[in-house]
Amino acid sequence: MTQLNQQKRQAVAFVTGASRGLGKAAALYLAQAGYFVLIGVRDIDASQALLAEIREKGNKGELIALDLDNPSSITTAVKGIEARHGSLDVLVNNAAIMLDGGWVGNTTITIHAVTLKRTFETNFFGTVALTQALWPLLIKAGHANVVNVSSRMGSNTYHADPGGPLVGVKPFAYDASKAALNALTTHLAELGQPLGIQVNSAYPGWVRTELGTEYAELSVEEGIKTIVDLAMLPPNSRTGKFEHAGSEIPW
Ligand SMILES: NC(=O)c1ccc[n+]([C@@H]2O[C@H](COP(=O)([O-])OP(=O)(O)OC[C@H]3O[C@@H](n4cnc5c(N)ncnc54)[C@H](OP(=O)(O)O)[C@@H]3O)[C@@H](O)[C@H]2O)c1
Repeated sequence: MTQLNQQKRQAVAFVTGASRGLGKAAALYLAQAGYFVLIGVRDIDASQALLAEIREKGNKGELIALDLDNPSSITTAVKGIEARHGSLDVLVNNAAIMLDGGWVGNTTITIHAVTLKRTFETNFFGTVALTQALWPLLIKAGHANVVNVSSRMGSNTYHADPGGPLVGVKPFAYDASKAALNALTTHLAELGQPLGIQVNSAYPGWVRTELGTEYAELSVEEGIKTIVDLAMLPPNSRTGKFEHAGSEIPW
């Protein structure tokens, strides 16, 4: 992980789903690295302590109310960011849900359509809508990084491998939503290339959070490494990649 080169204008980074887990740890890290961090949370009151922690360390941040399932919440959040900051250097699309009923819960046949749609609403449609709304601010930054926090569960290559790591692990709603998020990465990377906007998917690893469960391998501090490394990429580094710990993983 590298330290941000301080520029004249303090770079601004927006992390969605920053109330807990990987998003919270990434927000703390980016603030410490010198970014003005926009902390995207659904419940502002519940995250006042996080903002206080950032400020007590002498870093800068602001809470942004954001519910990806609510279009007017996205509009309000983006208008506020535009009014107060004018541009955006980093967008970490981290917020997500897994409603499948556990990692080996519902199958592709038993998953309820409502669960499938609710999962896509947050993990894909809301994330796409936010990214579209923030695109002009990312362009204004001159150089920007978008990190889509994905999962190897979204890798069709792994799922199609009969000897691979995901045999018997097929929570369909979550997996399909992350595969769709990966499509956002590849498609947006092409649009962003001539504009200086790098767009990459990060697989954090299996991390001990509410979503990852207590049985996961990695701490949140270990889990954010891929996310923050891609968030802090210098210009002309790489785009359209799907990475974990500095190595590419298959789509
Ligand atoms: N943990 C792992 O092992 C693992 C592995 C691969 C990928 N990932 C990915 O890493 C990212 C972070 O996961 P995590 O493990 O830190 O999960 P987590 O602890 O469950 O945190 C999820 C975050 O998303 C927010 N969120 C949920 N629905 C939202 C909505 N509609 N609008 C805005 N925010 C919403 C939550 O906010 P509230 O507090 O308001 O609920 C929370 O801040 C996710 O994209 C996940 O898919 C995690």
